[in-house]
Amino acid sequence: MLVTGGSGMLGRDVVTEFARRGWTVASPGHTDLDVVFRPHLEALAQGGYGQYDWVVNCAAYTAVDRAEEEFMAATLLNGVAPGSLGFACHQNGWRFLHVGTDFVFDGEAGPYEEGALPNPVQAYGRTKLMGEDHAFQFCPDAVVARTSWLYGAHGKSFPRTLVEAARAGKALRVVADQTGTPTSTVDLARTLADLVAASAPGGVYHTAGPEPMTWHALAVRAIRADRRAQGLTDEPSVEPITTADWPTPARRPRDSALVSTKLGALGVAPMRPVDESLDEFVARLSAVPPATGGLA
Ligand SMILES: NC(=O)c1ccc[n+]([C@@H]2O[C@H](COP(=O)([O-])OP(=O)(O)OC[C@H]3O[C@@H](n4cnc5c(N)ncnc54)[C@H](OP(=O)(O)O)[C@@H]3O)[C@@H](O)[C@H]2O)c1
Repeated sequence: MLVTGGSGMLGRDVVTEFARRGWTVASPGHTDLDVVFRPHLEALAQGGYGQYDWVVNCAAYTAVDRAEEEFMAATLLNGVAPGSLGFACHQNGWRFLHVGTDFVFDGEAGPYEEGALPNPVQAYGRTKLMGEDHAFQFCPDAVVARTSWLYGAHGKSFPRTLVEAARAGKALRVVADQTGTPTSTVDLARTLADLVAASAPGGVYHTAGPEPMTWHALAVRAIRADRRAQGLTDEPSVEPITTADWPTPARRPRDSALVSTKLGALGVAPMRPVDESLDEFVARLSAVPPATGGLA
């Protein structure tokens, strides 16, 4: 296995899960295998980085708001690199698993099954949709695993920011009119490993948590999990606000929840209930240093 973006929030848990399954995993860092640097891509395609059964692409430009201004950087990483990696895979007879996003949808008709028509409404989603298209153009049996609202112990995420703010006693206001499917990186790593183990046929798969909810509901559930872990039972106080109350540079979909219709047929189990994943998440958060910066 070759995992790109192995130092990222999802990539770290993917590398751990693959190793746990006894698979040999190579995960060169950004500077050793830069997925937008032509000499590295040529070397990869020529087998200079080794031979693999699968290449799993967790590298991405994930700063949704900044992508509005840094469209070129986001396009190279999210739009072009999946084509280059897919090409290398196809040349060598490797399978390609690429991670996609719910932000390819406009959010007007969620929840979305795999066959729904994408229509991204911000730069990030457009670059990610381009990446899906390029992956399939250069590697027809690519697997694109779209996911949604990730949280993990090794990166910035909305639940992390909210739990840390609640721990610091800050007043919290959270958008209550956008819906998605919060997904633990540990659970997603298991599902991606299951797709690999099942030799999933090429195509798009929706791989997200089992419960659609709003950012506000997610904030309450995450803080509740944190309080539970400390033996506290008082209800979190989080003021619900609207999208109009919290303007952002990039437009967000109103409901981009993902529904999977294809995993069952491959014998891939649905992810755990969100509260179970959040209990594990807050326990892991306490074991790693606080995140720096704002929301991802
Ligand atoms: N986060 C979410 O809420 C969310 C939601 C839906 C879908 N997704 C998708 O899930 C995937 C993983 O997201 P994530 O949140 O885990 O991302 P992340 O934490 O931002 O990690 C991105 C990774 O990409 C690496 N990277 C950046 N530029 C690179 C380059 N030129 N060459 C090689 N590696 C490079 C980074 O390494 P350095 O740090 O060393 O640069 C880092 O390891 C992405 O495809 C994302 O679009 C995320």
